[in-house]
Amino acid sequence: MRRIIIPVVVLTVMLNLALTPGSGEKGESAPFGAFRENDFERPLTCRQCHIDIYEQWRQAMMSQSYVHHWDEIEYFDLALEHAKKDSSLEGAISGCNGCHTPLMWLSGVKTPPRPEEGSRANEGVSCDICHTITARTGEPSVNFNYVNSPGKTKYANRRGVKSPYHETQYLEFVRTAEYCGICHNEMNPFGIWVKSTQLEWAAGPYAKEGVQCHICHMPRAPGRNANTAEEEHPDVAQHLFHGAHDPGKVGGAIEMRMHPVEREFEPGDQVVIKVQLFNGKCGHKVPSGSAEERQLWLRLTATDAAGREYHLPVDRKGFEGEEQTITSNEPAYQDMGFMLGRAGFAGIPRDALPEGDRIFCLPYFDREGRRTIAQWNTASLGTDYRIGPRETKIETYTWTIPDDMEPGRVTVRGTLKYRRLVKSVAEFLKVPEDETEIIPVNNAETWFEVVD
Ligand code: HEC
Ligand code: HEC
Ligand code: HEC
Ligand code: HEC
Ligand code: HEC
Repeated sequence: MRRIIIPVVVLTVMLNLALTPGSGEKGESAPFGAFRENDFERPLTCRQCHIDIYEQWRQAMMSQSYVHHWDEIEYFDLALEHAKKDSSLEGAISGCNGCHTPLMWLSGVKTPPRPEEGSRANEGVSCDICHTITARTGEPSVNFNYVNSPGKTKYANRRGVKSPYHETQYLEFVRTAEYCGICHNEMNPFGIWVKSTQLEWAAGPYAKEGVQCHICHMPRAPGRNANTAEEEHPDVAQHLFHGAHDPGKVGGAIEMRMHPVEREFEPGDQVVIKVQLFNGKCGHKVPSGSAEERQLWLRLTATDAAGREYHLPVDRKGFEGEEQTITSNEPAYQDMGFMLGRAGFAGIPRDALPEGDRIFCLPYFDREGRRTIAQWNTASLGTDYRIGPRETKIETYTWTIPDDMEPGRVTVRGTLKYRRLVKSVAEFLKVPEDETEIIPVNNAETWFEVVD
């Protein structure tokens, strides 16, 4: 397992950076409590004229970043409970709101009410939060380092358009991936990049080609951006923000083909099958973002002429930390025991999947080197074995044909599947089932013959 060692001095500086927002450093978080709640307008106000955009946003996770069940559970039942037992975490935990409900952060509410109380925290990442962002405090984009100028002017991608309700202002920054990175890159109190979607993008081919996040997540189409708009535009930005919660977005993100190295075998021979996995659709790694909880795994099975099915375990490549990339149900996430005050908690199954399959992941470890689901409690990362933008990974399967296999055609099927949250964690924390639905990403098939 590869550990990132950070010198104590650097760690202390980073801790301060992460925990003392608004001290004016480069890349510094937005100032806590710099505004009043009423400085920002409600999304329903914008709906009067921007109906399509409003309804798109309602459907996207942006509007649910505070009220969504799993977010509520992780924040209230795990993170806040943890902060009660370890007060050094208080800053980092109230920082959740800087991205998940920026209005609360900006208006100085440390712990907002639960969603059921119907406060304005429920607006999540709202229209007026995004359209009053004018800059970031410094480079890189990280930990909600937005600069807001709330008021009559709304900043976006059009020059010289007129609204009867507000002023409009063109702003180049809104059109850049760095704007998104403000909330899609996160460094935790240990100085670990626990979210780095924009940085992954910046290191990949799409940044070089100028393909910003918007091209894929806010695709453009002709139409009016407001029902009161004077004219149509050929390229209105659709506020889809579709990602892990849209099976259609995740489906096909990785393409997959496979072949055997030879086509004819006898019982007892070794078959070698190669699988190519190509990330042709995604501008960053898959999975990205909340990598601590996302799962992408490949399973191969063979069916012989008699209809018997066999599971093919993936070949080891021999890299450091590889055991984390092969499905296992060894006990994990023991740190939740401390957070929840349950002495002697022995952990729950790590992947909650059949064992022996390749799982493409970035493992998160706590201080004691145990797998964790809590990004704020992550002290080191393991080997990054996710599929990068336009990267192709090849997996090999070497399998000995059983001596008693009947002659005939053997069909080999591969399925690549995705899950937003580890099932064992969801069951332990009572997260509703839709969060652990299995999403098919792709599949492929090949064959070989068994001869006498
Ligand atoms: C009374 C109608 C009305 C209301 C209410 C309204 N808008 Fe607009 N808005 C417009 C019109 C009209 C335009 C210009 C459309 C065009 O011609 O492209 C516009 C343009 C915009 C633009 C594009 C600015 C640019 O320069 O690219 C943004 C962003 C925007 N509105 C945000 C908001 C937000 C946020 C709210 C709620 C706080 C809101 N609007 C409320 C009518 C409205
Ligand atoms: C996460 C930030 C974010 C949120 C939330 C958001 N927007 Fe936007 N909006 C953008 C960005 C970024 C663009 C520019 C897209 C581009 O240039 O590709 C934009 C563009 C616009 C435009 C101009 C569209 C065009 O191409 O003519 C309008 C109008 C607008 N937004 C209104 C709204 C309203 C109303 C809401 C809430 C219902 C909202 N936005 C929520 C980020 C956001
Ligand atoms: C003010 C902070 C903020 C900004 C700016 C922002 N986002 Fe987000 N975004 C979030 C949060 C918080 C969520 C997570 C919602 C959840 O699942 O709880 C999210 C969710 C998403 C998702 C959905 C992921 C999923 O799990 O389905 C996509 C896609 C996305 N954002 C893309 C973008 C793009 C593209 C931009 C820039 C145009 C952007 N975001 C700007 C905060 C932000
Ligand atoms: C070339 C198209 C493309 C570009 C560019 C792109 N994305 Fe994505 N994004 C996708 C696809 C496809 C998915 C679904 C697969 C997945 O979940 O990884 C996705 C998923 C996501 C998710 C959910 C990730 C997860 O696993 O929870 C987020 C958040 C996101 N994108 C944000 C961004 C941001 C921010 C940028 C810019 C820095 C960006 N995307 C650039 C195509 C793109
Ligand atoms: C720097 C901004 C930022 C901070 C700080 C942050 N988050 Fe998030 N969070 C996001 C974004 C963006 C996503 C969506 C990324 C993706 O789709 O993978 C997300 C996703 C999540 C999800 C998964 C949602 C889902 O439906 O799958 C949970 C739960 C969550 N965050 C809880 C927290 C908690 C608890 C904290 C504080 C300890 C926190 N977040 C701090 C930006 C942030």
